[in-house]
Amino acid sequence: MSRLDSAIRRLQAQRLCLNAAVAYVEELPGPFLELGLGNGRTYDHLREITPNRDIYVFERRPAAHPDCTPAVEFLIQGNFKETLEKASSRIGQPAALAHCDIGSGNLVVDKALAAQIGPAISALLAEDAIVLSDQLFNCSDWIAIQLPVGVAAGRYYMYRKSNIGKH
Ligand SMILES: C[S@@+](CC[C@H](N)C(=O)[O-])C[C@H]1O[C@@H](n2cnc3c(N)ncnc32)[C@H](O)[C@@H]1O
Repeated sequence: MSRLDSAIRRLQAQRLCLNAAVAYVEELPGPFLELGLGNGRTYDHLREITPNRDIYVFERRPAAHPDCTPAVEFLIQGNFKETLEKASSRIGQPAALAHCDIGSGNLVVDKALAAQIGPAISALLAEDAIVLSDQLFNCSDWIAIQLPVGVAAGRYYMYRKSNIGKH
C-alpha cells in the first residue's frame, strides 16, 4: 500500500471512529477531551459534529491554525504527564469521551506514553465514557469495543470505561 493510501485509510478510520464514538455517548452528559491538538483537524471535526459539548484540548505545543485552536479556557497546555493529573478541578465534571491522537511515529515512545497516561485519563472519565485512540491502551477499567464497519483491527482503538468487575 502506498503511503498516500495508508494516510487516507488512517484518516477515514479516524473519522468513522469519531462519528461512532459521538453516537455512543449521545445520552451521556459531560465534556469531551481531545489529547493532541496537532493541526486541529480532529478537534475541528469533533466540535462540528457536537456543537453543544465543551471540548477540553490537551497539547504541549499548540500550533494549529487559529481557526482550529480552542478558546484559552478550553486549552490545557503542557505535557500530558503533568496536565492530566491536575485537570479534574478545571474540567469540573467527568468526561463522556476522550479522543487520544497522540502518536509521534516512534512506536517505543508512543507505547510508553500510553502506558503512563492511561490511568490519569481514566480518572477524568465518567462510567461508560468512550475512549478512542491511535494507540493501544491496557487500562484495567477499559473494555475494548467493536470498531465501526470499515475500520481494520489495529488501525484505531476504541474502549468503554467500566468499573464493573473492578475491585
Ligand atoms: C498526531 S498529532 C495530533 C493530530 C491532531 N489530532 C489532528 O487531527 O491534527 C499528536 C499531537 O500530540 C502532541 N503530544 C504528543 N505527546 C504529547 C505529550 N506528552 N504531551 C502533550 N502533547 C503531546 C503533539 O505535540 C502533537 O501535536
